[in-house]
Amino acid sequence: MKLIVTIILAFSCFAVFSQHILPTPQTTVKVEGTFEFQNSVNVFVEESGNPSFIYLKEKFPNQQFVSVQNKKNANLVFETIKADNIGDEGYFLKIHSEQIVISANTETGLFYGIQSLLHLLPAEKLDGHQQLAGTKLSCLEIEDSPKYAWRSFMLDSGRQYQTPDFIKQFLDRMAMLKMNVFHWHLTEGQGWRIEIKKYPKLTSIGSNVAKGKEQQGFYTQEEIKEIVAYAKKLHIEVVPEIDVPGHSEAALIAYPELTCFRKATETVMAFTPNLFCGGREETYTFLQNVLDEVCDLFPSEYIHLGGDEAPKANWNKCPDCQAKIKSEGLKNSHDLQLYFSKRLANYLNKKDRKVIFWGDVVYHDGTELPENVVVYWWNWRRHKDLALVNGLKRGHQVICGTNYYNYLNFPLSPWSKYAESRTFDMQDIYEKNPSDLENPDPLVLGMGTCLWTDWFVTESMTDKRVFPRAFATAEQMWHRGKRLTFDTFYIRVKSKYPLLKTMGIDYGPALKSEVPENYNWD
Ligand code: ACM
Ligand code: ZN
Repeated sequence: MKLIVTIILAFSCFAVFSQHILPTPQTTVKVEGTFEFQNSVNVFVEESGNPSFIYLKEKFPNQQFVSVQNKKNANLVFETIKADNIGDEGYFLKIHSEQIVISANTETGLFYGIQSLLHLLPAEKLDGHQQLAGTKLSCLEIEDSPKYAWRSFMLDSGRQYQTPDFIKQFLDRMAMLKMNVFHWHLTEGQGWRIEIKKYPKLTSIGSNVAKGKEQQGFYTQEEIKEIVAYAKKLHIEVVPEIDVPGHSEAALIAYPELTCFRKATETVMAFTPNLFCGGREETYTFLQNVLDEVCDLFPSEYIHLGGDEAPKANWNKCPDCQAKIKSEGLKNSHDLQLYFSKRLANYLNKKDRKVIFWGDVVYHDGTELPENVVVYWWNWRRHKDLALVNGLKRGHQVICGTNYYNYLNFPLSPWSKYAESRTFDMQDIYEKNPSDLENPDPLVLGMGTCLWTDWFVTESMTDKRVFPRAFATAEQMWHRGKRLTFDTFYIRVKSKYPLLKTMGIDYGPALKSEVPENYNWD
């Protein structure tokens, strides 16, 4: 009998207390009592049509919600306030026995308050069919706001094409992780994926230069607008990346006249010296026309223009590139890339957009880039913190997203082209991520995680790479308090596995020691 009572008690505690919020909120204070949902949830919002309320109703289509005019009669209150300490994205979440109150300075803050509330619900309530009656939450008071304004997740849709539905699901998962920038890598040597009306061959030819079944395809302008609108509802900004002058073989197969020697090139998984010619004006006209359409599609504050891995063998031999170097008084072909980058950045600045480049643009001295260029520090494997140090020295904002340990396409154990040296687990991320700066310079804008799709990482292979490790990168982007020990953090991550299952996420192992022999990463 005693045993049965103990089990029942343990089970009821589990039902009320077991859920954790990730990323970890800044402060959580437990208070006395339990809140219990009833058949109907009375909601107070300041204005009808409130997006937070709409979002909640969409999450629980079978739950009865009643809008009430008087705060006192509400079980759930959304209110905007003026609070100095939580910024634009922070929120307060108070769960008291009679009422749940989410308050924030902005709609975005309210949205993150809802995300935290969702983390506290039993996972099975989140399958889109459930009602909440009888669900109990232990009372608490949370104050929370993010460490960084920039918390991105990059998806490589260049090397592999993913369907719009997959992209929307990716955005839902980002919202659950409180990430706020979808960095969309739309162009690669293996595929050009964005419809540009002025240059139809970019997609009629450039979207199917690679052979894989899931490497065919592009996003129409209508599809892109729909994805941008979907992201906006999740308080996610979509920042497109048009990677130039390198990683551009797909575009250059479509328009070979834009290469240095006006010759067709081939598509490759990695990268080649077949760049857009930096010497001829046609290149600049072409790219500016492309960027006009990009800006019409993406209202983002930033546009990413790539700039990584652009070997200069052709530029060193091309008469037009060499003539440009001479006429502009440039030092060499690296300086020509800076000139090229500066021209495009200035062009976008005039359209009120700021430009992000991969860190390669600050490896060499030369032409100064506009100060508002943001440097994305990525290549820790080869260049350690060179991009961070040089970017900050030159007064640029920096996004920290080093390939170790933020490239989640690198699996936990060897696979295909990835040897042991390219593998890492969630503990490596949590404890050794060079991008996780303890006292970041004020110029550090934030952190980024990437899912590259090199070597045919197709849609069905992504979950086991991304989850659960993305919880660790999300924690580093959001949580600015004292870090939990890894063991405590890992217990909390494991408490999210039922949620991942409800969301249909086919998560993989967290630790190298847990990877079964011959684990199938495919
Ligand atoms: C990169 O990984 N080439 C930015
Ligand atoms: Zn050239």
